[in-house]
Amino acid sequence: VILMGTSLILGVSVCESYMLGPISHTMFPEDFLFGVATSAYQIEGGWNEDGKGPSIWDNITHEQPNFTIDSANGDISADSYHKYKEDVELIENIGFQVYRFSMSWSRILPNGRVDNVNQAGIDYYMDLLNELVAKGIQPMVTIYHWDLPQALEDIGGWTNPEIVDIFQQYAELLFQTFGDKVKWWLTFNEPVEVAQGYVTETLVPADFTDQKGIVDYQVGHNLILAHAAVYRVYQQKYSHQEGKISLAIICDTCLPATDTIEDKAAAERCFQFSVGWFAHPIFIGDYPPVMRERIDRFSIEEGRNTSRLPYFTRDEIDYIKGTADFFAANHYSINLAAAGSEFETIPSYVSDGGFYEMFDPNWPSQEVDRFKVVPQGFRWVLSRLRDEYGNPRIFISENGFSTNSSFVTDDTKRINFLETYLSALRESIYTDGCSVMGYIFWSLLDNFEWTSGYTAKTGLVSVDFNSPNRTRTMNKSAYWFRNYIEMHKIYY
Ligand code: NOJ
Repeated sequence: VILMGTSLILGVSVCESYMLGPISHTMFPEDFLFGVATSAYQIEGGWNEDGKGPSIWDNITHEQPNFTIDSANGDISADSYHKYKEDVELIENIGFQVYRFSMSWSRILPNGRVDNVNQAGIDYYMDLLNELVAKGIQPMVTIYHWDLPQALEDIGGWTNPEIVDIFQQYAELLFQTFGDKVKWWLTFNEPVEVAQGYVTETLVPADFTDQKGIVDYQVGHNLILAHAAVYRVYQQKYSHQEGKISLAIICDTCLPATDTIEDKAAAERCFQFSVGWFAHPIFIGDYPPVMRERIDRFSIEEGRNTSRLPYFTRDEIDYIKGTADFFAANHYSINLAAAGSEFETIPSYVSDGGFYEMFDPNWPSQEVDRFKVVPQGFRWVLSRLRDEYGNPRIFISENGFSTNSSFVTDDTKRINFLETYLSALRESIYTDGCSVMGYIFWSLLDNFEWTSGYTAKTGLVSVDFNSPNRTRTMNKSAYWFRNYIEMHKIYY
């Protein structure tokens, strides 16, 4: 710190201070942004307050308490519906420049449609945005983070093509209402997971029947069309707001399990069937050829008269292509892919892709063993995105580390994780030439982690879920991050 102070006083150039060594590990490009993320259902609570309508997550957690490991729900969660001012103070205190959060569709539109607006919902987000803007924190709003209004699920949810238009109207309402304050928009969070929600038992709306694997590509198709519709309408009617739009794609893809040609091809299919499914239509045009070829072939072999993977028209391909201003990448972990024999399981993007996913036994786990800690995998993913999509501007829209349910604010493991992942990110930028513009950490607060309920904690700030007012305590990692951002800023 003393060295750095001196260098500033003496006006030492960025390059020289970079060479100072011990402190240089915090250096990122001058306009690099650090942020932190949450999502509505995971933190807000207030599930039925002030006119909010029910979402599919409200309903499934109420109707099937065992849906989550700990029979939990998001009825109160971290109570950010009431404590948002304190949350914004925490964000400011840690020093983040960006806050990524989602708006609850059914809080704003109780039945999902713009003919019935809930003013209290608008007011809540307006107050939150005012707090952020007053503190100079840039909001990044996720329009859809998995909590569909139940009324829309009742008409088939994302399987129903009508939702494309309904979603566009909702997004337009957000642009009209909040567009002067919000300059970063993400239409969808992890569309693969939204599509999977219709064919698995662990995401919502969930399918508990044996008919799995039929509708996920239809859902994906509607999501892509809905994303493009929102991007295009913004371009036509709201471009004076000068915001940037993308969608957050989960990029936990695969490295080849061995050096064989077969496993390398399997890893490539893993990439195309997970990342490429959504990124190829938007950044390159149409579905990845390998998806088209395999799913068409399997569909014929299954005796269907149409492919399970819907077709875009020529016009739709052009309309969708180019509908992202940057690449928003969520990344937690990496897998290994080995070639699998086709048709072994029920159809899904993994079995259609013909790969087996596995972990290298040498990879350490996060404290909750859902993800492995592989910083060089993060770096590899970024270089893969660079090569595949023509060196796009990338925003890391999520990355984080889960600890177990005990209330511990000494989260040294999370700090170690951050040290290694941010250092891999610096290598991506400075050695590999990836154009990464920012890094957003998941999450600000411990929160409702979907089917894991409150058993997996991801916050820089601990929340005491046993205290009636959901007391917040900054973890060691929050102080660490504050220092890290401070050091980074000092260079410029
Ligand atoms: C992805 C999701 O976007 C977020 O909601 C979730 O909590 C994190 N990953 C951690 O699993």
